[in-house]
Amino acid sequence: MFSIASAEGLCPDDTAAIFFTGNDRGELKPCGCSGGQLGGIDRRSAVFDQVNDSRRLVIDTGSFVEGDGEQDMIKFNIMIEAFGILAYDVINLTKSDVEIASNLGLSDGNGQSFKIVTSDGSKESSFARSFTKKITLKNGRIFNINLAGIDSNKDSQKQVKGLFNSKKSGDSINILIVTGDGKTAGKVDMKVVDCLIIPPSSDEPALQKTTKTGALVISGGRFGKYIGRVDIIWPKKTKRPQLKFSSVPLTEDIEQNPSLVELYKVYQQLVAEVGLIEKHPRFKMEENLIYLGSDSCKSCHEYEYEKWSQKRHSWAYSTLEKVGSQYDPECVGCHVVGFDYDMGFTTEDRTPHLRDVGCETCHGPGSEHVVSEGYEKTTMPQLACTECHTPEHSTDYADNEKEYFEKIEHWQEQKPAEDVKVKEEPKETEE
Ligand code: HEC
Ligand code: HEC
Ligand code: HEC
Ligand code: HEC
Repeated sequence: MFSIASAEGLCPDDTAAIFFTGNDRGELKPCGCSGGQLGGIDRRSAVFDQVNDSRRLVIDTGSFVEGDGEQDMIKFNIMIEAFGILAYDVINLTKSDVEIASNLGLSDGNGQSFKIVTSDGSKESSFARSFTKKITLKNGRIFNINLAGIDSNKDSQKQVKGLFNSKKSGDSINILIVTGDGKTAGKVDMKVVDCLIIPPSSDEPALQKTTKTGALVISGGRFGKYIGRVDIIWPKKTKRPQLKFSSVPLTEDIEQNPSLVELYKVYQQLVAEVGLIEKHPRFKMEENLIYLGSDSCKSCHEYEYEKWSQKRHSWAYSTLEKVGSQYDPECVGCHVVGFDYDMGFTTEDRTPHLRDVGCETCHGPGSEHVVSEGYEKTTMPQLACTECHTPEHSTDYADNEKEYFEKIEHWQEQKPAEDVKVKEEPKETEE
């Protein structure tokens, strides 16, 4: 899109910019299953660096991870590391972030290059309630941006009181972040706030409202797909600045920061080291059915096997190996056989015959069928296409079901699947 060399041109002399992210919920980077996916922490620097550090404020509003499992903890640490590399100024911890942070022994000034604020610190918490950065515009104007967060489950007036040392006048801009699922947002006194960032209502951050005095109410984004941007335009002679909101999609053509690309590899390594795929919760397979692997079908279904071998399902696990995600339980499930069952794939070493989207992924465990030499039908559990070809992981699938179905054809006569309409072949062959 735009090159970084000309980037300073995107921020005129009388302008500063606030960049904000939040509600990443563990999306460090898009899975890469389909083209056109937005996001990736490794693409953020290219956007932030369009504005010089002295004229920008980079913040994260919190909720970095989805839950509190082992993988979430790894992600939390990786996010904290990433905020440092990306030169964030300040991050706001939500209630659940604070719990995780204290479990992990994270405290402010613990070697991070950014500050941490929270509305939810206990009395002895080391995290501050608010943060201030001094901004110097190229036109010579100097002002402060104050930032604080409040929890929407608690009384907003009480929380806001005393947060900002100066009122919305003179030489400061006040930004308030609202977190949690409560209903505070509408009740915040906008007389003291220039910019209110409320919880997301969609993946893309959006301007909800501009007050009569020009203050903005913005809903944050989700899953790191976009970066929110608020330009503070403050010419020499005007008393108060004008605020302008925009959202920047993190498209695939935006340059990746090499340090963050490396950090993602560290993440993949950590996930592998603690053996998360072996800890994946699994259902017990009923009736002692066993997955035998695609090779066990070959002797009787040579034609089908040959056809399948030429198609992408048959190397789905190698695809993960190529990108280094073969130990990530968030990836493996759709790229192997039976990951959710005790009889299914666990690791390449233990269950090499169950790698890839093999025959039994769709036809079910083959033990009874094989032992009976085809007399007993293959059984459930059988996965339907849409269990893996979801809108997130297979963007094109929904509109092209027929094409997808035709592409996997490996049977000798054309067989219509229950949920897919396939053209009837009028041709009749007589033997
Ligand atoms: C010992 C030979 C043999 C082996 C091994 C075998 N099959 Fe079959 N299979 C048959 C026969 C015989 C039929 C029924 C005749 C037909 O329709 O072609 C059949 C039919 C099928 C069918 C259609 C009927 C149904 O059960 O839904 C599917 C699907 C199938 N096999 C899948 C598999 C898979 C998957 C494997 C490997 C796990 C496998 N087969 C292994 C012999 C075998
Ligand atoms: C267990 C998950 C899973 C199921 C179930 C599944 N797929 Fe896939 N499919 C994948 C994965 C993973 C890939 C990508 C493999 C690769 O490229 O490494 C893929 C790739 C494909 C492709 C190749 C796409 C292309 O553009 O060439 C087609 C076509 C396809 N699947 C069709 C189907 C159909 C039709 C069904 C249902 C009958 C189905 N899939 C069921 C996981 C699944
Ligand atoms: C819900 C199931 C699902 C999950 C989870 C999943 N994938 Fe996939 N993946 C797919 C499907 C389906 C395709 C084929 C998409 C298509 O062609 O329409 C695919 C394709 C891919 C491809 C091939 C893309 C190409 O065009 O060559 C890569 C790489 C990939 N996945 C990586 C990952 C990684 C990394 C993760 C974990 C972060 C992951 N997948 C998690 C279902 C999944
Ligand atoms: C992505 C899912 C998927 C995979 C993987 C897959 N199949 Fe199929 N298979 C289907 C679908 C869908 C059909 C056609 C509709 C039907 O008959 O159920 C089919 C049809 C068949 C048939 C003909 C069924 C009949 O009733 O005559 C056989 C035999 C078969 N597959 C065997 C295999 C073997 C062997 C493999 C592995 C080498 C395999 N399939 C891999 C989905 C899959």
